[in-house]
Amino acid sequence: MKRSCSAAIALCLCASASAAERDVERRANELLARMTLTEKIGQLVQINASGGQVPDALRQRVREGRIGSMLNEIVPAASQELQRVAVEESRLGIPLLMGRDVIHGYRTIFPIPLGQAAAWDPDLVAAAAAVAAEEAAGAGFQWTFAPMMDIARDPRWGRIAEGFGEDPHLASVLAAAMVRGFQGDRLSAPNRIAACAKHYAGYGAAEGGRDYDTAWIPEGLLRDVYLPPFKAAVDAGVATVMTSFNEINGVPSTGSDFLLRRVLRGEWGFKGFVVSDWNSMSEMIAHGFAKDLPDVAAKSLTAGVDMEMQSAAYSDHLEALVRAGKVPEKLVDEAARNVLRVKLELGLFDTRRPFAAAPPGKPGPEALALAKRAAVRSVVLLKNEGRLLPLAKEKATVAVIGPLADDPYEVLGTWNRDGQVDDTVTPLAALRTLLGSAERVRYAPGLKQARSRETADFAAAVEAARQSDVALLFVGEEAILSGEAHSRAYLDLPGAQQELVEAVAATGKPLVLVVLAGRPLTIPDVFGKAQAVLYAWHPGTMTGPALADLLFGLESPSGKLPITFPKTEGQIPVYYAHKNTGRPPTGRKLTLIDDIPPRARQSSLGDASRYLDIGFEPLYPFGYGLSYTEYRYANLRLSAERVGKADTLRVLVDVTNTGSRDGLEIVQLYVRDLVASLTRPVKELKAFQRVRISAGETKVVELELPVASLGFHDAAMRYVVEPGAFHLWVGGDSASGLESGFEVVE
Ligand code: NOJ
Repeated sequence: MKRSCSAAIALCLCASASAAERDVERRANELLARMTLTEKIGQLVQINASGGQVPDALRQRVREGRIGSMLNEIVPAASQELQRVAVEESRLGIPLLMGRDVIHGYRTIFPIPLGQAAAWDPDLVAAAAAVAAEEAAGAGFQWTFAPMMDIARDPRWGRIAEGFGEDPHLASVLAAAMVRGFQGDRLSAPNRIAACAKHYAGYGAAEGGRDYDTAWIPEGLLRDVYLPPFKAAVDAGVATVMTSFNEINGVPSTGSDFLLRRVLRGEWGFKGFVVSDWNSMSEMIAHGFAKDLPDVAAKSLTAGVDMEMQSAAYSDHLEALVRAGKVPEKLVDEAARNVLRVKLELGLFDTRRPFAAAPPGKPGPEALALAKRAAVRSVVLLKNEGRLLPLAKEKATVAVIGPLADDPYEVLGTWNRDGQVDDTVTPLAALRTLLGSAERVRYAPGLKQARSRETADFAAAVEAARQSDVALLFVGEEAILSGEAHSRAYLDLPGAQQELVEAVAATGKPLVLVVLAGRPLTIPDVFGKAQAVLYAWHPGTMTGPALADLLFGLESPSGKLPITFPKTEGQIPVYYAHKNTGRPPTGRKLTLIDDIPPRARQSSLGDASRYLDIGFEPLYPFGYGLSYTEYRYANLRLSAERVGKADTLRVLVDVTNTGSRDGLEIVQLYVRDLVASLTRPVKELKAFQRVRISAGETKVVELELPVASLGFHDAAMRYVVEPGAFHLWVGGDSASGLESGFEVVE
């Protein structure tokens, strides 16, 4: 399924498919011609593992070719035995496709995807996925249900942790990178696995941030914001796509002919297979879209779902529907062919040994080094008053406080399934190693768990802070507070953590806050208590070494926020690429209600789209992140003032590292289409580049802006680049930067 570029995809759609692709097609058709209807339907059935058991009934189903795929069989002996039965005892010897949620690592756990997104580093994302693929493949899996690429603009939604944030451009680049990492150049290589673009589509737009909830997304917004990462994944050759649980505009994604047949297959030429999410087919009954399981089966297959995960509409009802003439057999053929094609491309029939499965060993040194690099790059420095950080390695004694300072489980994040706490190095352990002497590290957690309200240990924490040069506070969310079905209405620090921060801050000792969380937390008051804040998400196996190196300046922070940080939950949704409105709050003086005396006149507050109590600006904008050095942007120049639609604008800027440390800056380019037939966002990220700049050095950074990327879907749902004036900004975040402009001409 992997092709090197989107042009290659286009090629394979026409008669000039490669020889390998033609061979796969031929073999899939030959198999299909030999299959009974029961066996074809079997390829469309995916069931969950029986926890390492191979009961007789399961063995018999596999033998009869009634199962095409399983998920979650982590016991190698069971996985091997099931494959053996499929290959040696079933009539046609078709191997099973073994799947698992390998989301941010298999045994070696990398930062949660939202953290990986903060690194703005596609090569790093690809490298981490490649390690995960290798580890998962060794354990007998050939398929992961990742990457997740749901654009999310509501941090109440727990699954925001699993995606790449709020922006379609950043998410598209990273989604394609993760697909490349999992699948490599050759899907049949034994250390690669098939990726799955999920959750198609609009899942992150759930009403109120409640998981599984309804999404209302006008088609233009869907196409301009929510679909591009999926298109990028398809262009990168993703082998499979998973439908989402939610309904969009009244139609569950799993039953959406529009999403699956018209867009995915018709417009994008997707050649892999589509799997439902877990029970998302049968859940169409609860949605009120299907009346019973036969109806579910008919609607799903007609819409274009090739494989059913977990529920039993296909296995129990499809055959009867076809025999009764209610569903054309050709749809079953099509779906089975899609599944077989991926199995063939994976080399399951030949190059790959489907029986191979071994328990994963401890992460090797290279995997750990990469996990550490990923964790370092994912951390965002939000604040650093008086240059408190980095701490001087030779001098400081530190108080290590907080429930997450020495917890090897919670820092692994939401989708840790196969990672081990024994592999994890906590901040406390890493700091002890780095500082080399027990006396320099005073550990007093203050709270045993993040959600605890028991304050009896506060006194010890306060005392530890008093006796040390600096207090390091490791606070945040447990892993279980983000992820599937784990939405929150209050985005504060759980338990008595805020009180702990306040108690330690009251000592007057310098305070560094390290926040470990699956989402942006709305805790400006807590940030206010600390001189420095490192936002670390859930960094994974190498949490400790990464944070220790950052705290003591062996590394400099380079992460930038992939999502806007609101001041309070009431500000949600807040995202940088919003519309201007007719009464924008920017560029005018607006007063907050607290600054106005009682009985003031209405007009004294101004009339703009914002909140009277907290204004308009978020706490931290998208793209924001400090480092231990500073950068100056100067001399922005464009290759042309007027460009045609087929042109590529070259944008150059001088970026100087004005500080005394080497650094890595993420240079961001935003545009605004000033006047269009449909109003456009105030800013849209269109390009970015990671640049290493030594202290004192100036680098000329060149960014390319293809004019074709400036379009949007108009009222007739045509992708158009409209002529006219554009603004352009280049800078270190979405709220600052040098400004210029250009014109697109016919
Ligand atoms: C449900 C989740 O929504 C999906 O992301 C996951 O891949 C499947 N379960 C399989 O575990």
